[in-house]
Amino acid sequence: MGLSDLSRHTFGITKNTLDLIEISPVTVSDIDSIQEVANSCGLSYWTAADYSNESERDDSIFIKANPNDGPCLGFIVGRLVPGIVREDTRDAEIYNIGVRPGNQNAGIGSRLMGAFLTECRTRGVHTVWLEVRAGNSPAIAFYKKHGFNVVTARRSFYRDPIEDAIVMKSIL
Ligand SMILES: CC(C)(COP(=O)(O)OP(=O)(O)OC[C@H]1O[C@@H](n2cnc3c(N)ncnc32)[C@H](O)[C@@H]1OP(=O)(O)O)[C@@H](O)C(=O)NCCC(=O)NCCS
Repeated sequence: MGLSDLSRHTFGITKNTLDLIEISPVTVSDIDSIQEVANSCGLSYWTAADYSNESERDDSIFIKANPNDGPCLGFIVGRLVPGIVREDTRDAEIYNIGVRPGNQNAGIGSRLMGAFLTECRTRGVHTVWLEVRAGNSPAIAFYKKHGFNVVTARRSFYRDPIEDAIVMKSIL
């Protein structure tokens, strides 16, 4: 089965089969499927080299979700950054999270977010930051459900199309 076929395949993931999803770190060999997931759910364009670079950085948190022996259905990527509010703390930023359209709303994004936040706590993160398009209400609802609050907006931050960014944070 080619990658284009995978995007049409739901792998029958429901809330009842969520436990069969494995959550694990992304490696370089996953990058093609990560990019395919990103394209399928309309995330801002990153090259394979961008993703590959993140998978090799020590300060990156890059996690995938896949069924046993199955292809990647979703991922989250972010990085540890110096603390913004207090210099003696560490923060983290989430750059991208995506789940294949046919597998959304079944809890996979929540599993990924849970694993990301657990890793942040393990690595001493104080605050997690992210930006999201102002019109992306499903994602904003998702982030609020996971403890993120709106901090501010950045006017016309995004291109193609131009749109405000909502800045959100969660204090761990
Ligand atoms: C945002 C995203 C990662 C969430 O992953 P998911 O696996 O669908 O989310 P989960 O099933 O774990 O969580 C569901 C929660 O997300 C929110 N949500 C997900 N899809 C939604 C939709 N279509 N409408 C409204 N809320 C939605 C709700 O808060 C929902 O909770 P509820 O069921 O209690 O209402 C996923 O929808 C996605 O890939 N979206 C497209 C890419 C994207 O916009 N990424 C964010 C870029 S900043």
